[in-house]
Order: sequence, then C-alpha cells, then structure tokens
Amino acid sequence: MILVTGATGNVGSEVVHALIEAGQQVRALVHHLNQSVLPPGVEGVVGDLNQPETLAAALVGVHGVFLLSGYQNMPGVLAEMRRAGVERVVLLSSGCVVGGSMSNAIARYNILSEAAVRESGVPWTILHPSGFMSNALRWLSQLRAGDVVRAPWGDVRIAAIDPFDIAAVAAVTLTTSGHEGQSYRLTGPESLLPADEVRVLAKVLGRDLRFEGQSDAEARAEMSRTWPAEYIEAFFRFFSEGEYDDSQVLPTVEDLTGRRPRTFEQWALAHAKAFK
Ligand SMILES: NC(=O)c1ccc[n+]([C@@H]2O[C@H](COP(=O)([O-])OP(=O)(O)OC[C@H]3O[C@@H](n4cnc5c(N)ncnc54)[C@H](OP(=O)(O)O)[C@@H]3O)[C@@H](O)[C@H]2O)c1
Repeated sequence: MILVTGATGNVGSEVVHALIEAGQQVRALVHHLNQSVLPPGVEGVVGDLNQPETLAAALVGVHGVFLLSGYQNMPGVLAEMRRAGVERVVLLSSGCVVGGSMSNAIARYNILSEAAVRESGVPWTILHPSGFMSNALRWLSQLRAGDVVRAPWGDVRIAAIDPFDIAAVAAVTLTTSGHEGQSYRLTGPESLLPADEVRVLAKVLGRDLRFEGQSDAEARAEMSRTWPAEYIEAFFRFFSEGEYDDSQVLPTVEDLTGRRPRTFEQWALAHAKAFK
C-alpha cells in the first residue's frame, strides 16, 4: 500500500493516477474526507500533516509514501512513518533548494523538510521540480473576466513541468529500486516566458488572449491577497533578483520514465475544461 499526501492537489492527484496505472494499491491522505473526488478503489483517510499524531491510521500497512514539504513538524511526520514501518518516502521538494539560501522562506521550508527526510532513517528519494505548469490556473479569474493576463516577471523564462510528469517520476521512484538516496532535478521540455504560455493558451482555447507585465507594486499588492509577506519576498528574490534560475531544460524526466515530458500545450489541452 502506498500513501499519497496532497492527494486532491495538482501533483498528488496525478500521483494517485500514476500509481493506479502501475497496478499499486493506493491510499489517499485527505484533509477533509470527500470520497467522491478520489478515483474508484482509492481509500481516503483523513489526516493533518501539521499534526503528525493524526497520521497513524493512514499509515497502517503502508510501505511507501509520497510526501509534500513544508508542514509544521516534518521530523514528527517522518517519525510516524518510521514507527509505522514505511520502507520508502519520496519527498516533493523544489528546484529552488539547489543553491538556495536558508534566509529565503520558500527555500528554507524545503531545505528543512529535506533535512527531516534525510535524518529520518526511512529510505528516501527527493524530487526537485521546476515551477509547475498548473501555476497557469492562477490566471483563471482574469481569463473569466477578459482576454488580458497580467502577471509579474514577464522576462523570466521557466522550464515549467506538468504535474503529470512529476507524478510519473514519483511512481517510478516509489515502485522500482535504485532510487534510494537520490535527488532528482526535474523540468519540462521547453523554457517559456509567461507571454509564451498565454500564446499557447490562446491557441488551445481559441481565444484572442494577450499578456501584460505587472509592475512590482501591482504584483506585490495582488500576491498579498494569497501569500504571507515572507513568501512574497522569497518570490521577488527568486525572480527579480535572480536568486533562482528555473529556465534550464534537463533530460531527467525522460531518463527516468522513458518518455519526453509533456509540453505546455499538452498540459493546456488536458486542462482546457478548467478554463471554460
Ligand atoms: N507551484 C509550484 O510551482 C511548485 C514548485 C515546486 C514545489 N512546489 C510544492 O508542491 C506542493 C504541491 O503543489 P500542488 O500544486 O500539488 O498543491 P495544491 O494543488 O495546492 O495541493 C495541496 C494539497 O495538500 C493538501 N493539504 C494542505 N494542507 C494540508 C494539511 N495540513 N494536511 C494534509 N494535507 C494538506 C491539500 O488538501 P486540501 O485541498 O484538502 O486542503 C491538497 O491536496 C506545494 O505545496 C509546493 O510546496 C510547488
């Protein structure tokens, strides 16, 4: 049995599907139980990653865990796994950790989660993905309101990855040997500007969409509705000050899965319904 945390999210839901495809028995850790959002045959068990003591029931009989980063007591979460006899954990960290600084809040929560995994005594693999293609879902409300997408960092290229491909790698590393103690930097197949992504969305959705760069002040004001101040600062350090170069395209997904990672156009086609 493999436990997938974040099973209703962009990546976790794809991990659930990838593991089912691989013929695995899957249990989904959910924050709030709504069995109808889980695929048939997947058992949902309620637990809170911020409260490790709530995870015991979800971990019964589990040999592998797909784990998200950044919860309040990651050493406690790992201790519950070790107690339950988990034999393999695959941590979803971030590419920003590579050369990242503890003084950057986003790099820090990932670095600390990785340390907890490495020190846990549970055999581990760590995934360092680039920014997700699903971040384009943040433009949904703008796309419902009109044809202009306004976003920051118009000149910053990102080799964004489809959560589908992160999940494919997670499934491989959870179900085959040789990945213990490995960290994998994962990217998509092309390095795109936000305007390139908007152009692809326009083509896929059959709409006349336009990208406009936001000023730093506008971006900060908008982000403050969603993110705490230290995360906004972290993003500005990454992309305005150049602390994180997420533009490089790497062959890792193909090396590990045997097929090329999906393009942004493939992601957009698969998720077109969400934009309607
Ligand atoms: N976006 C990027 O570009 C990027 C890049 C690198 C790494 N990451 C990392 O990837 C992670 C996953 O991304 P995603 O897009 O899949 O996230 P997402 O769609 O927001 O999903 C997050 C999942 O975590 C669950 N969750 C939240 N708080 C929880 C808690 N206390 N206990 C148990 N489950 C909890 C949510 O369940 P509910 O919906 O029920 O709350 C949801 O299933 C992010 O958190 C981030 O650290 C993101």
